[in-house]
Amino acid sequence: MSNSEIDPKLLGQLKKLEKKYEVMGQDISSYLDGLLYADYLTYWDYVHLDTLLSLQTPKTGFADEMIFICYHQITELYFKLILWEMKQISEQANVTEAFFLGKLERINNYFKQLIYSYDIMVKGMEKDQFLKFRMALLPASGFQSAQYRMIEICATDMINLVHWESREALAGEKDVRILYDKVYWKKGATELATGKKTLTLRQFEEKYTSRLLRKCEAMKNNNLLKVYEKYVIENGSTEQLEEALRELDLNANVNWPLSHYKSAVRYLQKDPEDIKATGGSNWQKYLPPRFQKIVYFPNLWTDEELNNWGRSMIVQ
Ligand code: HEM
Repeated sequence: MSNSEIDPKLLGQLKKLEKKYEVMGQDISSYLDGLLYADYLTYWDYVHLDTLLSLQTPKTGFADEMIFICYHQITELYFKLILWEMKQISEQANVTEAFFLGKLERINNYFKQLIYSYDIMVKGMEKDQFLKFRMALLPASGFQSAQYRMIEICATDMINLVHWESREALAGEKDVRILYDKVYWKKGATELATGKKTLTLRQFEEKYTSRLLRKCEAMKNNNLLKVYEKYVIENGSTEQLEEALRELDLNANVNWPLSHYKSAVRYLQKDPEDIKATGGSNWQKYLPPRFQKIVYFPNLWTDEELNNWGRSMIVQ
């Protein structure tokens, strides 16, 4: 086939490809040979379907454990998408309002999917089965979700994640190690009977402390709160941005925790024996957002709103 017979569009594409490979000192012709031998992509290979569907391995024979494990995995995938958007905000050199709003809208959408799908947990399993299979999973707990902690660390300054009792004393503290030491979740994971750190927490700390501390340090100056503050200094605040950030605060720190808390109430409340089917926290005092008062963007709320934090489900 002579050059004149080649479709000009194809020729243009080949030229562009040639340039692309040249930049890296590569010969396009070898890569074209590779294309000749490469298989066509299939859906199942692209999404790693066989691997994905091999990851649900219940520890007991109770049918409803499949729902429990799948829904945790689904949640972790949404957490991954939330972190993906947060990373892009943090790494963007010049954040425009449209960019910031677009990313926040996605993050809020992911949270809303999680909030509205929580009935899969609350209504979707038999309590009798839950209380039995949950005992086979101890001391594992969603409390050990590192992505959940990463979302918090990427969203706000560490002082806002410090347990409320220590927040005033540590105001102005710059050392993330000192702040991390007083983070609210450590305080929450204290054994009811002995006051010692739960095994759930000790396992988590052993695996993740150094990684999370590195994350705290890396996010110190470019978490979402910091990106917003910088944006305001340079451009002034906008109602839409404030709204999107407030919505995120409600989704992450009121609506999701309340949906999650509903499942704890449904499965664990009343019978003192039931409490054993947890990672050992005093969950009734730990899980309700009105006790922890975690707020990513406290300056966007009035004192009254902060005082009433988490008292009701606010659906946007
Ligand atoms: C029937 C369903 C569920 C029940 C009864 C339940 C119960 C609990 C309890 C009691 C805690 C406190 C820590 C502990 O003692 O273990 C906790 C923490 C937690 N769970 Fe769940 N959970 C359920 C589903 C889920 C799901 C699907 C996820 C998704 C990943 C999840 C993520 C978390 C997280 C992130 C925490 C820590 C919350 C915080 O520190 O504020 N849980 N859960």
